[in-house]
Amino acid sequence: METKNKNIFLIGFMGVGKSTIARALQERHDMEIIEMDDIIAKRNGMSIPDIFEQRGEPYFRNEETNLLKECENKQNVIVSCGGGVAMRKENVAEMKKSGTVVLLTAKPQTILERVEHSHDRPLLENNKTIEHIAALMETRRPAYEKAADIVVETDGKSASEIGEEIIRRI
Ligand code: S3P
Repeated sequence: METKNKNIFLIGFMGVGKSTIARALQERHDMEIIEMDDIIAKRNGMSIPDIFEQRGEPYFRNEETNLLKECENKQNVIVSCGGGVAMRKENVAEMKKSGTVVLLTAKPQTILERVEHSHDRPLLENNKTIEHIAALMETRRPAYEKAADIVVETDGKSASEIGEEIIRRI
């Protein structure tokens, strides 16, 4: 595998499968996972929805940026990023310092099916419709695509297939 510092940053929309694919990569390639949302929740002693509600979204976004900065000195890690990470230019620069940025994509319908029954995503909690998902995806698409070193479509593929495709292409 020839990545810059051998870190892999998985970016993309909520529910695209970043965490699942990170685990598939970990199993096959003996890499450590940094699951950003889990670490931020643990550090704050509360869930992501509670952080949004009690501390506010800007606070959460700063936590993401601080955590990414810690990855610079790591090697051989898979970072499963929160869906909003690539929206800050500063975060994108940080990721590129130590690894390859992999954008995972899926159709809005696929995303809807995956997020429909979960309650851990404050940005979708009040409106889980395909229209809302598609509109938010479109808003984010330019930043996601600009950040990406490679783009991997996930519809119709298993997590291990996607993991292997990532390894082949980076
Ligand atoms: C967010 C995505 C979530 C989580 C937070 C905000 C976003 O992570 O970080 O709810 O802005 O897209 P997942 O992409 O893992 O759902």
